[in-house]
Amino acid sequence: MSDKKTILSLMQPSGDATLGNYLGALKNWQKLEDEFNCIYAIADLHTLTVRQDPAQLRKNSMQVLALFLAMGLNKGDNIVFAQSHVSAHAELGWVLDCFTYTGELSRMTQFKDKSARHADNINAGLFTYPCLMAADILLYQADMVPVGEDQRQHLEITRDIAERFNNIYGDVFKVPEAYIGKAGARVMGLQEPTRKMSKSESANANNVILLSDDLNQIANKIKRAVTDSDSVVKASPDKPGITNLLSIYCAVTGKTLEEAEGEFVGVGYGAFKAAVAEAVVEELRPVKEEYERILKDKAYINSVIKDGAERAGRIAYRTLGKVYKKVGLIPPVR
Ligand code: TYM
Repeated sequence: MSDKKTILSLMQPSGDATLGNYLGALKNWQKLEDEFNCIYAIADLHTLTVRQDPAQLRKNSMQVLALFLAMGLNKGDNIVFAQSHVSAHAELGWVLDCFTYTGELSRMTQFKDKSARHADNINAGLFTYPCLMAADILLYQADMVPVGEDQRQHLEITRDIAERFNNIYGDVFKVPEAYIGKAGARVMGLQEPTRKMSKSESANANNVILLSDDLNQIANKIKRAVTDSDSVVKASPDKPGITNLLSIYCAVTGKTLEEAEGEFVGVGYGAFKAAVAEAVVEELRPVKEEYERILKDKAYINSVIKDGAERAGRIAYRTLGKVYKKVGLIPPVR
């Protein structure tokens, strides 16, 4: 890889990707592409923290990879792979488990949320999830990690773990920065705009836009989004529905909030929602076309992730070897 700085990010294949994943993460990954060496993967090991149907998980994994490729995330020297294909992730994850305190892990918002939602399956993997995520990042000495707002706390604990390890053993890990975009960092549900749009909370289909929805469905979901009592298109804490739609509009068009609000002065909610729907549909149309085409080409997807795992592995095992040596494990006898 060149001497540019490195960005890295992963996405769980726990279901169809949402407009939240797209605007909070994928679109920023694409934006940063020219400036950085880029490493992207599906976080399939993380997905096991919630019980999965095996066939569905395999299908979702191929779909998320097809989406990455449809967005051109594998261009140039970029690396795209599946986390489970590089065993160094699980191996460093174990070492980092031993450098992370249970008190820190029990304060993680995502652990508390997921334990509440899956009370029948509060497993050890769910608890140590942030250690595996820290391993994902630290193996590649990533400078920056582009994520949505909901992952900020996980980036903070990654930095704490890296600093703790470095304080004991010297500069082993680069301490990464989070990159959280201004618009689209927290896309909320269309029917429940006070909660984040999430694939695992799509009991009400109209609440979540899936990238697998057809374009008409997407437009209709936006037109049916809940709005607030008056009819002024202006962002404010007591207008979560309109604020969310404005932020989606800004993330898609690249306009600032002031520009967007200016554009809709005197415009009713119906016409505003139609404009947001059109902007989102036009944004997603080319991605979806490319996605449908690539999804049929399993051989192509497999060739990308085979090459990706080899190249990722070369970087990851180098870091893992250094860590094993630092902590005092004896080298394997060959
Ligand atoms: P995941 O799979 O839940 O989401 C993938 C990315 O999408 C962002 N995102 C959102 N952004 C804005 N609005 C939303 N409603 C929304 N929903 C999701 C997430 O912030 C994320 O950037 N733990 C991670 C996966 C992971 C990872 C990593 C990320 C594993 N290892 C290493 C970065 C680096 C997760 O569950 O993301």
